[in-house]
Amino acid sequence: MCARSYVTERNSMKRIIHFKMNLDAVLYSTRYVPLESAQSFILKILPQMGWGKSEGDDVILDVGCGPGGTTRHLILSLFSSSSKIFAVDSIPDMIALARKHNSCSQIEYRVANIEDWSVLERWKNQITKVVSILCFHWLKDQQKAFRNVYHLLRKEGEAAFFFALRSTFHASVLDMQNSSRWSHLFNGVENYVPESQFKGYADSYYKKMLEEMGFEVLYCQSVEKIDVFSSEKEYRGFSRLPFAFGMKALSCETRPPASARLFQYTSRP
Ligand SMILES: C[S@@+](CC[C@H](N)C(=O)[O-])C[C@H]1O[C@@H](n2cnc3c(N)ncnc32)[C@H](O)[C@@H]1O
Repeated sequence: MCARSYVTERNSMKRIIHFKMNLDAVLYSTRYVPLESAQSFILKILPQMGWGKSEGDDVILDVGCGPGGTTRHLILSLFSSSSKIFAVDSIPDMIALARKHNSCSQIEYRVANIEDWSVLERWKNQITKVVSILCFHWLKDQQKAFRNVYHLLRKEGEAAFFFALRSTFHASVLDMQNSSRWSHLFNGVENYVPESQFKGYADSYYKKMLEEMGFEVLYCQSVEKIDVFSSEKEYRGFSRLPFAFGMKALSCETRPPASARLFQYTSRP
C-alpha cells in the first residue's frame, strides 16, 4: 500500500497503549533476508511508485526495522546518499542487533513503538517517506499506528506499508491454539494473529480507513503470494519464527516438538 498525506495539522492523539511483545531478537535474526514477496515490494512496487528516483534529501522512517538487514540492504538503496533513515523497532534487543550488525552512517536505529505517539512526536511533520515491511500485522491497534504515521509525514510525504492480511502461518498458529494437544502452550501468551485473519479484511477496508484519515491512497492491493523456500531445512528454520514472536515463553524442551508440529501444519497441501 502506498499513500500520500496532504493534511498536516490535526490534534495529536494523547492516549497511549503500552504492550509488551515477547519477541526473541536472536531467533528472528537467523533469517534477516526478508521473504521474496517483501523484497519484490521494495524493489519492484516502490520504484513503480516513483521511489528510488528522487535525488533530493529524504528523511525516512522505517517502522519495525527488526535487526536492520532489510533497512540496510534493501531500503537504503532507494534513497540518495544524503538522505537519512530513522529505523525504529519496539523491541530494544532488535535495535541492539541492528546497531551491531547493520550500522551505517545514514541509518539511525532507535527504540520506538509506532503506536506510542509520545516517543514519535519529535518527528511530527518531519518525515518525507515512511516505510514498513512485515510489521503492521503485529500491531494491536493498526488504526492508531496509521494515524501516527499520518502526523509524522510532511505535507505530500508518502508512506508504504507491506503486511500480511491472512497467512497459512497465522492459520496454523490458530489451529494449534485450538487443539487440546497444544493449547496449553498458549496460556497467557499472545498469539499475534491479526484481526484481518479473523475478519477477512480486504484491501478496500484499508483504503477506506486511510482515506478517512486524510491520506490520498495511490496504490492498495491485496495479492496472494507464495514464498518459495530453497530447501526443507530453510523452511524448517522459517517455521521456527513463531517462536521468535510471542512464544518466547516456551521452555527449551517444548520448543522443538511445537516447532515440528507447526512445520507439519504449515506444510500441509
Ligand atoms: C517480521 S519483523 C520485520 C523486520 C524487518 N522489517 C524485515 O523486513 O526484516 C517485524 C518487526 O516489527 C516490530 N514491531 C512489532 N510491533 C511494533 C510496534 N508496535 N512498533 C514498532 N515495531 C514493531 C517487531 O519487533 C519486529 O522486529
